[in-house]
Amino acid sequence: MADRILVAYATRYGSTAEVAEAIGDELRKAGVAVDVRPVSEVQDLSPYRAAIIGSPIYMGKWLPESQVFIERNQQHLRSIPVAYFAVGLTVADGGPEALRKAEASMDQVRMLVNPVDAGIFPGRLESGRLSLPDRTIIKLIRAKTGDFRNWEAVRAWAEAVRSKIAPA
Ligand SMILES: Cc1cc2nc3c(=O)[nH]c(=O)nc-3n(C[C@H](O)[C@H](O)[C@H](O)COP(=O)(O)O)c2cc1C
Repeated sequence: MADRILVAYATRYGSTAEVAEAIGDELRKAGVAVDVRPVSEVQDLSPYRAAIIGSPIYMGKWLPESQVFIERNQQHLRSIPVAYFAVGLTVADGGPEALRKAEASMDQVRMLVNPVDAGIFPGRLESGRLSLPDRTIIKLIRAKTGDFRNWEAVRAWAEAVRSKIAPA
């Protein structure tokens, strides 16, 4: 029987994985059976009655792994409640233009499967962890670095989504 909830994510440097884990922990607190997995490790969606799928934003877009996962599984995902979350840095300053761009990173996946909700969260950028190409880009655009994740906001969103996809 499909009685579990899947939280699936892509990540390059681990910060989105930690956001996914926090979402999973919040759902478990409400007594829901949850699996938190990288999208690359999810082969079978049959155990799941709902899915929450996320990606960090790189150059305005979701990582291809999460997009491809949704594309490949779109038929199944259209038959269960789905929510999306995006993790990025530009939203950390809270301006409407940054929010619009972060929203736009989900345009493609929204067209594939319409979500019941979509969350956008500030992420983490630490230049010491980055690959050389990524560090070069960050220097060129003078991005601010730091950990801007707001765990309270993540947990509040997870609880709001739970009440939609797995009402008590
Ligand atoms: C090369 C590069 C490009 C990025 N582009 C964006 C972007 O377009 N919009 C945004 O909001 N954040 C951008 N970020 C910030 C990441 O989304 C943020 O650091 C996120 O937390 C990384 O997630 P991860 O640790 O799961 O890979 C970029 C970061 C790097 C290194």
